[in-house]
Amino acid sequence: MAATYRLRPAASRMSRTSKLIPPLLALALLAGLALAASGCGTTDPNVERGRILFVQKCGTCHALAQAGTTAQVGPNLDDAFASARAIGQNDATVEGVTAAQIESPRPMVGNPAVSMPPDIVEGQDLIDVAAYVGKYAGVPGAAPPKVPGGPGAQVFANNGCGGCHTLAEAKSGGVTGPNLDEALPGMSAAMVHESIADPNKQIAKGYPPNVMPPDYEKTMSPKELDDLVQYLIESTSGGKASGSSSKG
Ligand code: HEC
Ligand code: HEC
Repeated sequence: MAATYRLRPAASRMSRTSKLIPPLLALALLAGLALAASGCGTTDPNVERGRILFVQKCGTCHALAQAGTTAQVGPNLDDAFASARAIGQNDATVEGVTAAQIESPRPMVGNPAVSMPPDIVEGQDLIDVAAYVGKYAGVPGAAPPKVPGGPGAQVFANNGCGGCHTLAEAKSGGVTGPNLDEALPGMSAAMVHESIADPNKQIAKGYPPNVMPPDYEKTMSPKELDDLVQYLIESTSGGKASGSSSKG
């Protein structure tokens, strides 16, 4: 194709992290087509699900306000897309750039220390994550959805714990990990803390290792982790846990 698609952000506002965007935009057109094709006749993107996947698979490296993630291994995705938004690029473009980056990551010039591994998510997961990033990255004022129940409940929601764990108090129904209403009664705060900070140290019976993300201690502040532990203890003791009936 002869026509090249170029972005020209205001140079002074451009951060180091945004330098990848222009070359990625060309790929976005292709990715957009691929997404459109693969989405044809299959399920629509599920942005909610994309958020949970983002927190798990991308939030270990990237900050994104709406996801509540703060890691700094890779570029801050709000910063990365803010300038593109400011000059009128829309959700679809951001979605396409993201899909292209996931399918064939472009190493960042001048930052050879870490590179993004390819195909962290594929298929429907890729579609959902890209749509999620497309909807929120660089959108001014984007913030995690507010949930009732105080700061610990918010940490639980921000980190997508409910995507893998059932917890009645949070109205979550994940089944990848143990049902917390059943697992937590009897555990001390220190034990709960350790299960989150160092999940592979002691593997819950009947569950595989290396499934629960191992780096929450890095991606959460100490206060967030404390709030979370307190919330879990409070919401699973004192008869609050409703006897939901799953047994592994
Ligand atoms: C192991 C850390 C790591 C993980 C996990 C990771 N990334 Fe990245 N990401 C990076 C790094 C580092 C870069 C900079 C380019 C490079 O060096 O690969 C990057 C670049 C990007 C960019 C381009 C940003 C820009 O400034 O141009 C996007 C978009 C992106 N990642 C999205 C994602 C999404 C979505 C996921 C989850 C599916 C993800 N990343 C998972 C490390 C990661
Ligand atoms: C990708 C799925 C996944 C996510 C996300 C996840 N977990 Fe887990 N979790 C697991 C699995 C699988 C286990 C069982 C294996 C193990 O002990 O590591 C587990 C174990 C636990 C345990 C120990 C339970 C027991 O019976 O000993 C606690 C507590 C826990 N998770 C809390 C959390 C919290 C809080 C979050 C969010 C910050 C979270 N998990 C996020 C999958 C997940």
